[in-house]
Amino acid sequence: MDFQNRDIISMNDLTREEIDEILSKVQIVRNHPEKKNLCKNKVSAMLFFEPSTRTRTSFEVAMRNLGGEVGGFYDANITSTVKEESLWDTVKMHDGYGFDVIVIRHPLKGTARLAAEAAEIPVINAGDGPNQHPTQTLLDLYSIKETQDKLDGLTIAMVGDLANGRTVHSLTEALLKYDNCTLFFISPRDLAMPRSLIDKCSKAAPSRGVNFTEGSRIEEFISEVDILYMTRIQKERFEDRTAVAEKLRSIYRLEASMLRNVKPHMKVMHPLPRVTEIAPDVDHSPHAYYFQQARNGLFVRETLLALILGAVR
Ligand code: CP
Repeated sequence: MDFQNRDIISMNDLTREEIDEILSKVQIVRNHPEKKNLCKNKVSAMLFFEPSTRTRTSFEVAMRNLGGEVGGFYDANITSTVKEESLWDTVKMHDGYGFDVIVIRHPLKGTARLAAEAAEIPVINAGDGPNQHPTQTLLDLYSIKETQDKLDGLTIAMVGDLANGRTVHSLTEALLKYDNCTLFFISPRDLAMPRSLIDKCSKAAPSRGVNFTEGSRIEEFISEVDILYMTRIQKERFEDRTAVAEKLRSIYRLEASMLRNVKPHMKVMHPLPRVTEIAPDVDHSPHAYYFQQARNGLFVRETLLALILGAVR
């Protein structure tokens, strides 16, 4: 399999075999004896139209660990976007300045795909609105495999704002490529998983052995799951930002006392940032895995960059 110059826009664009191949390279890149030279003289353009801590920083450190450099911007308000320059033209400019790869985050669905059409160099989607966050999903899958030793036959609950959370959309798409998954989608009715994804789950059910259930209470499912994937209420994507978000936050809150009867190997994951949905007392539990999960993002992003830039095969 050759990932050189591939765009990474959606989990839909990757087969199960390709996902497995990427994950299988993580240890190789992480411990590569020539790691510091793998992407020497390569430069990544970081086009961030939305705030980020983990994705931005881990991509930056990943590039530096591989011997490369980064450029671009993290605040579109200091670019000519404020003079109404289009996304297309912004991407075209970076495409022509000698960068080797573009990493783009944008609040609108479909912008990463548009950027990939505008650019000759490969484009990595670092999150496009509520749509997809494929590099998060790759690190999520890596983390799930690391803790459960498999990706087939798992029981996974996704909790919170399933309507607006791009990480749970990407993760669901990815898990439908694996066999015999049981998925619990736990959210308030107004923030349920989009119908298009529920339809995909229904379609995958006969061939992949997928089971899925929609619910609204963590307590109903927590003792059955291998992975409890918490998400935050995406307040920035609400029209009425405060009142609804505050109400929902108080309903979806995991506390250490709720972990008493869970499976011994169960892990709590979260793409982060968290707000109130995981109480600080959960951090001390052996089930908490979200900080290791975020750290795995560095290793997975190093691997993606090395593959896309042709440094490893
Ligand atoms: N998980 C994630 O995408 O975090 P950031 O928004 O901080 O990049």
